[in-house]
Amino acid sequence: MRVLVTGGAGFIGSNLALELQKRFPDWEIFVLDDFSSGHFKNLIDFEGEIITGSITEPETIEKLRKYGFNAIFHQAANVDTTDMNQRRMMEVNCEAFKDILRVAKEARANVIYASSGAVYGNTKPPMKVNEGLKPENVYGFSKLAMDRVAYRFVKENPTVPVLGLRYFNVYGPRETHKGKMASMVLQLTVQILKGKRPRLFKWGEQKRDFVYVMDCVEANIRGFFAEKSGVVNVGTGRARSFNEVVEIIKKTLGVEVETEYFDNPYDFYQNYTEADLTETKEILGWYPQTQIEEGIPAYVKWIKENVNVNKLPY
Ligand SMILES: NC(=O)c1ccc[n+]([C@@H]2O[C@H](COP(=O)([O-])OP(=O)(O)OC[C@H]3O[C@@H](n4cnc5c(N)ncnc54)[C@H](O)[C@@H]3O)[C@@H](O)[C@H]2O)c1
Repeated sequence: MRVLVTGGAGFIGSNLALELQKRFPDWEIFVLDDFSSGHFKNLIDFEGEIITGSITEPETIEKLRKYGFNAIFHQAANVDTTDMNQRRMMEVNCEAFKDILRVAKEARANVIYASSGAVYGNTKPPMKVNEGLKPENVYGFSKLAMDRVAYRFVKENPTVPVLGLRYFNVYGPRETHKGKMASMVLQLTVQILKGKRPRLFKWGEQKRDFVYVMDCVEANIRGFFAEKSGVVNVGTGRARSFNEVVEIIKKTLGVEVETEYFDNPYDFYQNYTEADLTETKEILGWYPQTQIEEGIPAYVKWIKENVNVNKLPY
């Protein structure tokens, strides 16, 4: 089996590439990345071939055509939800995805790609796959546009399975390169480890569906074996507040510290997200299992052992 992970130097992509390497030693695993945001350190233990290039460049797409992949796990994207440059966002996320699908069609590879819970914006939770598609920013819009490209592609090419995974708020090891786009679990843990007060938008009661990165990896692998087309949510089905997150981090670290609340500067902020898991169960036969009570302590332990918190800007 020859498989490609695009965005493999990134957070979710590197966890996926390393897990595939561990679980399927007979597979040939390739990573593609332009290293615009991902970091080489995420791939130090990866033994497969690394292809360097941007999915927006015709020569990269030309190169990919020659490999004859059996599956493409497409994670590469402009992940900056605050980026207002609409053309750049659409080119990296949506336009390049059409080229990835063309490569897959030629090779008859199945495609598992990263969509996002950002497609739902501030619509009524729980977020259902075919309802409330009102993204608040161009990032969310670009992911919705990708899902629509995928639906059309599958209609025209029913023998090429294409599965979209709408990840909700992902947290876990190997996201330290992400700066302000890293999960709040990382940012708050680093603040507390530095002896600062954890900082939240007033009053910390906004709720998100926090999903552990290894559950996202599992969703990709289940998606590969399901060989079915569609779009599914990848969340736990349970919204949790930022205040709850801080409490679990403090308990894990054995620290007592007051939270500092400040005004939210964004007018396109998602205040409450919670995934409906109907299609997830139907298509994957499974859904993410790790609640923050288990995921956060495991991640905080990893941060303490692997991250030089003084180098991070939070
Ligand atoms: N982390 C989350 O909470 C979350 C939530 C919803 C969706 N997603 C999606 O999951 C995917 C992975 O996100 P992540 O959190 O791992 O982010 P990340 O920034 O760590 O990973 C993205 C990777 O793609 C690479 N990349 C960017 N532009 C590229 C290009 N033009 N060509 C080749 N490589 C390129 C980056 O260098 C990086 O390694 C993305 O598609 C993102 O939109 C993530």
